[in-house]
Amino acid sequence: MRVAVGVTGGVAAYKAAELVRRLQQDGLEVEAILTRHAQEFITPLTFAALTGRKVITEMFSAEGDAPANVESAIEHIAVAQRIDCLVIAPATANTIAKLAQGIADDFLTTLYLATTVPVVIAPAMNVNMWEHAATQANLEILRSRGARIVAPDEGYLACGMVGAGRLAGVEAIAQGVFDVLGVRHDLAGETLLITAGPTCEDVDPVRFLTNRSSGKMGYAFAEAAHRRGARVILVSGPVSLAAPGGVEPVRVRTAEEMHRAVKEHLREATAVIMAAAVADFRPAVPQQTKIKRGAGSLSLELEATPDILADVARERFVATGGTAEHRGRLIIGFAAETDHVAERARAKLTAKGADLIVANDVTQEGAGFDVDTNIVTLFFREGGEVRLPQMSKFDVANRVLDELLRLRHPSSSPRSEFHASLDATRK
Ligand code: CTP
Repeated sequence: MRVAVGVTGGVAAYKAAELVRRLQQDGLEVEAILTRHAQEFITPLTFAALTGRKVITEMFSAEGDAPANVESAIEHIAVAQRIDCLVIAPATANTIAKLAQGIADDFLTTLYLATTVPVVIAPAMNVNMWEHAATQANLEILRSRGARIVAPDEGYLACGMVGAGRLAGVEAIAQGVFDVLGVRHDLAGETLLITAGPTCEDVDPVRFLTNRSSGKMGYAFAEAAHRRGARVILVSGPVSLAAPGGVEPVRVRTAEEMHRAVKEHLREATAVIMAAAVADFRPAVPQQTKIKRGAGSLSLELEATPDILADVARERFVATGGTAEHRGRLIIGFAAETDHVAERARAKLTAKGADLIVANDVTQEGAGFDVDTNIVTLFFREGGEVRLPQMSKFDVANRVLDELLRLRHPSSSPRSEFHASLDATRK
């Protein structure tokens, strides 16, 4: 989705740069429009660098000139048609007045008239200007036309006065944009600790034991959770994927390192999702030099790696004085099976102490390693199961995150139609 960020001339104009970054973090495409007065406070170059695209500063190629070509003469129409939302931050009293009266004397105000997409306005001005009946009446007009007004904060203003008029926080403005776009932001406040990818257990300096895993499922979780407003710590074994923007990557190689990284970040986590394919065994004594081929066969002594998921669940149990009903930190595990999927998944649910196990039969086409889709069944500690049809790993992640929210707020969570239709398959 694409958002136009309109910046007008106020001291808070620099905060619009942060807003651009924040919207981009959630995967939105952003283009910036600066009024002439905005450029007294911040340069177009800042926005060009952030957005990687031309910043619109003038209605015409140069003040007073005829348009350089037809394209630039109708650019406000082109922008109006390609965006999904227009956000104006900061919006001065002057711009608000022009919008309310339909005055179109620069690119931004013309774009406002030319577009039919939702508009978010974040005013910033001196407290008296904010409280003035003219400003409030203009805002009322804009509100009645459906604009979302993100009210300014109270505090010390650049002019030295104290009161309402300070541009709202970047998060509040971004939330306004997400709301009007219908982007879910329901995981705000959660910190998700996600494991992904395989681990590698060294046999000698050139060989290692590992599990088949591309990391795609865990990375899809990281991206989906981040887009929905969660802070995401992604502990990943070696994979060829880049960490999604905005998540905090922690790279590890062995099960031991993954265990350590998870323990280190556990206290910050409100939920843990273990999508990693952790090697269950490692050589008891890794060799410091390359093992030579020799004549006969080779036996390797293997020892078990720590069960990270079970350990995390145990920690929760200990922290709550032994009550298994504690729902503070939710724990979601995976079960990659080749046979008796339901039976083994239920056994893992109990053995590992998870709230939810996402099970898949990796022998099925469209599920498992290296593919972009998955076919999973969710098994709940509270009982019951939900079988999902084949869907992209990103959609699987979102469905599981819906369940995470439902477990967090058993009675209040809004249930999507999609969810309701799937409930029909719940046993
Ligand atoms: N897991 C873990 N630490 C391990 C092994 C597994 O945290 N040492 C986690 C995985 O990330 C997954 C869940 O436990 O969320 C189940 O992993 P799976 O490989 O299916 O099961 P195992 O416990 O390894 O049992 P088995 O191999 O016998 O099926």
